Amino acid sequence: MKPFLKWAGGKYRLVDKIKALLPEGKRLIEPFMGSGSVFLNVDYPEYFLSDSNPDLINVFQQVQHGGVIFIDEVKEIFELKNNQAAVFYELRNEFNETTDLKRKAILFIYLNRHGFNGLCRYNSKGGFNVPFGRYTKPYFPEQELHFFLKKSQMATFEIADFSTTMNNAKLGDVIYCDPPYVPLTTTANFTNYTGDGFDLKKQEQLAELAIKLMNKGIPVIISNHDTDFTRNIYHSAKISAFDVQRFISSDGANRNKSPELLAIFQQK
Ligand SMILES: C[S@@+](CC[C@H](N)C(=O)[O-])C[C@H]1O[C@@H](n2cnc3c(N)ncnc32)[C@H](O)[C@@H]1O
Repeated sequence: MKPFLKWAGGKYRLVDKIKALLPEGKRLIEPFMGSGSVFLNVDYPEYFLSDSNPDLINVFQQVQHGGVIFIDEVKEIFELKNNQAAVFYELRNEFNETTDLKRKAILFIYLNRHGFNGLCRYNSKGGFNVPFGRYTKPYFPEQELHFFLKKSQMATFEIADFSTTMNNAKLGDVIYCDPPYVPLTTTANFTNYTGDGFDLKKQEQLAELAIKLMNKGIPVIISNHDTDFTRNIYHSAKISAFDVQRFISSDGANRNKSPELLAIFQQK
């Protein structure tokens, strides 16, 4: 099942590859949850899912606790009259000002489907600033929301930095990490998800944590671009490499193959 949110770097198309490499365990931990495409398509008894984006985690908690009634409320905001620029900007302002977490979650799902390319971007003051997307009829992900709701009953969602989540892992856990990509070249930097970026130092810190957990008997799998830098920081892992077709520009004209890898940190 697809996630109900559009999300930069979403792994829906790679799920089969990832699934084939994930070991069995009592609980799956995802410290970079994003839209949850891996969580939704694998089978573990329990899940611990976190992300540093508080708006994102709030949406998942609202679906989990609000249930079918919450989903029906989201449906109402997808009516045709709300698909015009003036209304979009009004609702975007409301999103940036409201302190009502349920309303904020409804507006986040609206903005994700009505905003440009499903982007999630904030200005320096933390205001969501993605422009209107001009879609003829934005898709309401009803089935996807219901599927998520059902599966969320086995999950815990938390706002956290990846290091906090990973340091809390215990034996029996399996960790899948999908950090913002290392840039393929220094000019192609798409890593600015929450406004604070994810620099190379953090990529190194993540690789070090993976080694620490592997040595404790906790397997860690990391997704990333396949570059000299990632090969170097993941040198103690087993590497599975492949090419992925990516639509780089918004009109899909600039279609490129990008080399990706999965680094498997697991004791033999
Ligand atoms: C590539 S996306 C994950 C995509 C996800 N696997 C999916 O399929 O939708 C990376 C995620 O890392 C989150 N992130 C960025 N910096 C982080 C940090 N320091 N700690 C935890 N999460 C972080 C972003 O908010 C973003 O959702």
